[in-house]
Order: sequence, then C-alpha cells, then structure tokens
Amino acid sequence: MPTISEILMTMDYGPAPEDASIAHDWLARHGARFGHFIAGTLTSPHTTFATINPATSVELAQVSAGSAADVDAAVEAARAAQPKWAALSGHQRARHLYALARHVQQHARLLSVLETLDNGKPIRESRDIDIPLVIRHFYHHAGWAEVLADEFPAATPLGVCAQVIPWNFPLLMLAWKVAPALAAGNTVVLKPAEYTPLTALAFAQIAHEAGLPEGVLNIVTGDGETGALLTGHAGVDKVAFTGSTEVGRLIRKQIAGSGKALTLELGGKSPFIVFADADLDAAVEGVVDAIWFNGGQVCCAGSRLLVAEAVAPRFTALLKARLGKLVTGDPLDKSVDLGAIVHPVQLERITSLVDQGVAEGAVLTQGAAPEGCFFAPTLAENVDPASILATTEIFGPVATLTTFRTPADALVLANATNYGLAASIWSENISLALDMAAKVKAGVVWINATNLFDAAAGFGGMRESGFGREGGREGMVAYLAMPSPKAGKAETPPAACDPLPGDTAPGAKGGIDRTAKLYIAGKQTRPDSGYSYAVQGPKGAIGLAPLGNRKDIRNAVEAAHKAFGWGKATGHNRAQVLYYFAENLEARAEEFVARLTAMGLGKSARSEVDTAVQRAFWYAAQADKFDGHVHSTQANHVTLAMHEPMGVIAISCPDRSPLLGFVSLVLPAIATGNAVVVTPSQSHPLIACDLVQVMETSDIPAGVINIVTGPRDDLARVLADHDDVAAQWYFGTAQSCADVEARSAGNLKQTWVEVAGLRDFSSSAGYGKGFLHRATQVKNIWVPYGI
Ligand code: NAI
Repeated sequence: MPTISEILMTMDYGPAPEDASIAHDWLARHGARFGHFIAGTLTSPHTTFATINPATSVELAQVSAGSAADVDAAVEAARAAQPKWAALSGHQRARHLYALARHVQQHARLLSVLETLDNGKPIRESRDIDIPLVIRHFYHHAGWAEVLADEFPAATPLGVCAQVIPWNFPLLMLAWKVAPALAAGNTVVLKPAEYTPLTALAFAQIAHEAGLPEGVLNIVTGDGETGALLTGHAGVDKVAFTGSTEVGRLIRKQIAGSGKALTLELGGKSPFIVFADADLDAAVEGVVDAIWFNGGQVCCAGSRLLVAEAVAPRFTALLKARLGKLVTGDPLDKSVDLGAIVHPVQLERITSLVDQGVAEGAVLTQGAAPEGCFFAPTLAENVDPASILATTEIFGPVATLTTFRTPADALVLANATNYGLAASIWSENISLALDMAAKVKAGVVWINATNLFDAAAGFGGMRESGFGREGGREGMVAYLAMPSPKAGKAETPPAACDPLPGDTAPGAKGGIDRTAKLYIAGKQTRPDSGYSYAVQGPKGAIGLAPLGNRKDIRNAVEAAHKAFGWGKATGHNRAQVLYYFAENLEARAEEFVARLTAMGLGKSARSEVDTAVQRAFWYAAQADKFDGHVHSTQANHVTLAMHEPMGVIAISCPDRSPLLGFVSLVLPAIATGNAVVVTPSQSHPLIACDLVQVMETSDIPAGVINIVTGPRDDLARVLADHDDVAAQWYFGTAQSCADVEARSAGNLKQTWVEVAGLRDFSSSAGYGKGFLHRATQVKNIWVPYGI
C-alpha cells in the first residue's frame, strides 16, 4: 500500500479533454464539405481536398480548391460592395465591427475547438489566447472606424484587399487582416492556409449571421495556386500577406509594377537575450512562451536563446528541468502544453532541419512526445551561430542556445540574421534593456516578457521579415491611401545621357559653362567612369554632369552607411541643421531662380524656389515633432511605438521640377534620420550640384546626402539590387517602377514607386506626414510599467 506522499510524488496528469462535439456537429451540419464564401453565400463545393486533424490524422472535412473563376467571382463581389461600404459613416461601419466582435464572442467555444481540431494547437491556447485576441481585434478596430474621419482626415480606403494568411494562427491572422481593412472602408477577399481553412469558413458564416453586408468579406479556400491567383488578380488594390519569406518574395515579384499596395509579414529568427542580471526563473518561463507556445510555429518565436556566459550553466539547468516537465500530446486535453504539429509535411521539415543540425554537431535535450504528428520540445546546444539551426526559421519547438560575454557581443549575435521581426530582452537593468531595445533590429521588442500581443500595438518586421504593421494606429495606415497625387500627365522620359570623355566643356554658346561633380561622403568627386554627359538648356548645352555608374553607387551607399550618427542625433539637432539649410536656401533664392531660368525653367522658377524654401522650413519643424506614440495595450505594460529611420534610402527624382522634386523627397528622408543616395533629375542635374553648396554651408554631416548623377533608370536598378539599401523611392517610367519593385525582392526593401509627372510636387500632394511615414518604420517596445 503506497503512502500518501508516495501517491503525491507519483501522480501523473489526469487527462482533461475538452468535448469536441460542438465542432463535429457544426461540421456534420455542413455535410463536412465546403464551398467558398462569396457575396454573402457559401457556394457549392467542387474540386475538394481534405483538411485533417493532425493530432489524429482523421479527415475533418473536404474543402474546395479555389479556381480562377472562384477568385474572379470573389473579387467582383468585393469590388461591387466596396463603394457602398466605404460610403457608410465610420459609425455605421463601427457598428458592424462591434457586431462581429460580439458574435465571435458568442461562438467562442465552437471557434476554439474547431481551431484546435484543424490546427493541432492546445485548446488552452486557442481558448485563452487566439479567440480572445480575435474578439479584441474586432472591438479595437470598431473604434478606429468610429474615429477614422477625425484621426485620419485626408485618408481614403485603398479598395479591394487580397489577404493571404498562414496556418499557425488561422483565425487570429484573419482578424489581424480583416478588422483594419474593413474599419478603413475596404472590402476583402481572404484565402486561409490550405492546412487550416475551417475557422475562416465558420467566421464567414458568423459574419453573415451578424449582418455584414454581402460582398464585404469573401473567403476563397485553396493552396498556393489559389493564393497566387488572388494576389495577382487585376481587380485587387492591396495585397496583405503573412507567411514564409520565400512566398513573400514571389508575391513582391508577381505584383511588381501593378500599382497594388503591399504589406508583408514574413519569417523570423528572433533573439531571446538573457543578461546576467535577469530574473532567471522568469526568463525560463519566458522561453516556454517564446518557443514552445504553439509548438514554436510562431513567426516571432524567440528561437535563438542568447545567454550571458556568467549565468548560462544555472539558466540551462533550470531550463532543462522545465523542459522535462512540459507535456506534449492531445491538443484537446486542457493540461497539455504542446499539441500536434500542423501537418506531416511541417513535421518532416522540422525533423529534417534538426537532423541536419545534429549532423553539424548540435547537442539536443528533448522532452517526451507521443507517436504521430508531434515533435518534442527541444533545446539545441553546441550550435555555431552560422549553422543551419541558428539561421533557418524552423517553425517548430526547437530553440538554440548560444552564450555571450558582453552586451556588445549579444547585440552582434542578435542582429546576425537577415530577419528583423522580434526580440525579447531579459535584464533587471533598465538602462541596459532599453539600450539594447534601441539597437536590436526588430519591429517588436519585449522587455522581460515575450510574445505579448494586443490590437492596439503594431506588429511587423524589418529587413527580410517584411514591411508594414498590423494593429494599432500604424496598422490602420497600412489600409489607407495617402492623399492621392493630382492626376498630372506622365513625364516624357529624359533624353539618354550620351557619354562624353573626361570633363571637356561642351562649348556652350552663351550658357553657363560648368562641369559638375558627384557628391559622395561630403566630397565632390569625379565619377568612376571618367565620363560626363551634356546638360541641355534652351539654347544648347549648358554644362556637364558626371555619368555615375555602379561603382559610384556602391561608394555612395557605403558613405551613407557611415553617416549612421545622423539617425542617432536628436530631433532637435536635425531640426537645427535643416533650419540652417532652409535659411541658406532662402538667402540664395535669387541665384536659384536664375539657375532654373538658365535651364529653360523660367516660368515656374520663382514659385519652385519659394515652395522649396517653405518645404525646408516645414521639415525642419517636423524633425523634432514627428514622434511616436505610447500605445495603451495590456495591463502592467506600456508599448512605445517609436518612429525609427529606415537607414539608407535610395531616391530617384522626377525629371520635371528638378529643385522641388529633389527637396520634397530628400528632406523628409533626412529629417527622420535617414541617409540618402539620390539621383537628381536626369535632364536638369545641375541644380542638385548647386544645392551641394547650400548643404556644405548648412552643417549637413558628410554622407547624409549623397548625389550620383547620370542615367536615372540604370542607377535605380543598381540601387534596387543593392542589399544595403533599406528603402527605395523611385519616380520615373512605368517600366522602371516595375523593375525596381521586382528587384527589391532580393532584400525585401520597402519601395515607393510612382510614374513621374502624376504627382504635382508644387501642390499639397508634394509634402506632408505621409512622406515622413514612408521614411520611418515603427518599432513597438513593450516595457513593464506599474507592475
Ligand atoms: P507559405 O508561405 O507557403 O504559406 C502561407 C500562405 O501563402 C498559405 O495560405 C499558402 O497557401 C499561400 N501561398 C503559398 N504560395 C503562394 C503564392 N505563390 N502566392 C500566394 N499565396 C501563396 O508557408 P507554408 O508552406 O505553409 O510553410 C512553409 C514555411 O514557411 C514554414 O515552415 C515556416 O518556416 C514558414 N512560415 C512562416 C510563417 C510566418 O508567419 N512567418 C507562417 C507560415 C509559414
């Protein structure tokens, strides 16, 4: 007879399974066969494929593979519904979003169970995290619809949004995408992931029941092929995608030049940094939430543990003890920590990556997992920072552990990835934690916490983790159009830059006989090619401009990178420099009018110079005012939404309005702390060379503005291919707009391309906060507050 203490010591978890009948009944009511949800009705099923319960391998339902005709019908329905939806008052749209929130709340149990069946995630997570956050998103965005006209006075909806989502948080990703889109007055066609389509279909039905007008939300199921039909559809105005970086690149290329807006929320390999003074017990619990939450199938999972050498043995011992207690098993069991992996294909991917890691020398500590589509929680040590396990997004419950000595080492390791989605920092030293938060390349940073989400905070990445934010004020911006350019006439492309050897004067008759230089790293330099091109005035050549090439661009980008101190300067410092620039430009206004007149631009010269001066003062004023927000998110936290510069922005100026085009694009970029590489107007480059003199007398630090004259479109292509350029603004031909977007897929730089001539830079469309938004990315830093 065992003693009581022996019984207590040997007690195991008793199973506490959730009753799944609510979801099985729902499936049965639909005959376990589904069509799409188009124009307010479920269509008849066709060409179906199975969606399975990964925990049991049992088929749950047959779902239709969306064809081109289905996608056409859905986009048409969304298009037809959009004007009416956008014409509703914000208040009326808010009421619909409130209704969605309430109805989801009423069906919370069905949705939680269905999500767990289809995805394999523990019921504890779908019930306590996913579905409550879905509800929160609809409530929060109902609020945005209500106040939209006041908060974003000039903004308009984008139109029809194509949204493609992954399988790791099926309904939550739907909410992240649908709620802001609808709040802003857009209509939606959404494609859920092929492994997890069921909660999207249930949601569509709930939306119908809640009275959402037909066509406002459409769901088309299918795999990547259906996804590509949707994202590439000509009737779509905006594409929002969450998924792998690989598919993000494909979509970037697919829609290049189409004029569609794009936001991409892609992969990550996020650092989880434990400093020596961290609360180690809390940090261990943090790891559980960082990498074993949702089986590590989380884009922002803290998958790289970076631990201070001094505490690494203790931390590792605590972590291994905790790992050994995690329970992996039936996701419907309320006491389970890790459920099933979403699909055998994903299990195979995880297994193969881990096998490769072991072959490279990784030493594993693993918990227990049942047979089937499960993977045990895993800690991999002896992992080189360059090895496969430390660099590849595994999307499974696998953490690597690496030690560091100093905070500087930790930062190098943290940023040694092409991704930049999230970071988690553990330290009781607030100065150290916030210093690190400022320096780590990540769109979201959690201090002494991890994987916190809220509808009021923006979420999204930097670098190859994509661009755009979801949630909060910044998430709304992603579904609204900037004041649209006045529909001017597209510019005639500039004449080719015929190379002239050396810097021979062209023998201008009565013109300004000048030979300009490039401006790189604060110095006027000759072009690498040794060639120049003749710049034409009304009566023939008026000077020579250097013919910049690939090498000059490389030098300019390097110089821009070295000017990183500009991004760290205070807004006040930048404002002072820009005021100085504005004053110097104003003082030389007559000279600039004369220059423009000599170039044959006399008619608009005066107003162009006056407006350029106004812009310079305006951006000087904004330099210390375009700051971020403090989001009100979860209890005991504040979320600082910081506007950070992109880094190096490449700018190709329009040909017309050579002074105003240059100033209107360069100033917002540098006011927010970026360094720029600019190709000025190809036909009238000399005005930029004149501006160099103003810059040199205005204390603009070397490397902040670099100017490479020459063939705009060739140089833009070089810039688009350059991996050290974070963002690119191109104003030129339609063909090169497409080229720049397609080539930007390499490092997934953010692009802003427009056919030159359409935007009237002399009007209100030529400046404003929209430009400042383009020049910055928001980093959301979650800080403990008032605990
Ligand atoms: P995926 O990126 O292929 O799928 C995501 C969504 O995109 C799905 O709805 C899919 O049908 C759709 N899709 C696929 N190809 C498309 C195309 N050419 N055009 C338009 N839509 C397309 O991700 P997958 O294959 O499910 O997972 C592969 C790996 O991607 C995972 O192992 C993981 O590493 C990563 N991943 C990352 C996610 C994230 O949130 N960062 C989410 C899902 C996967």
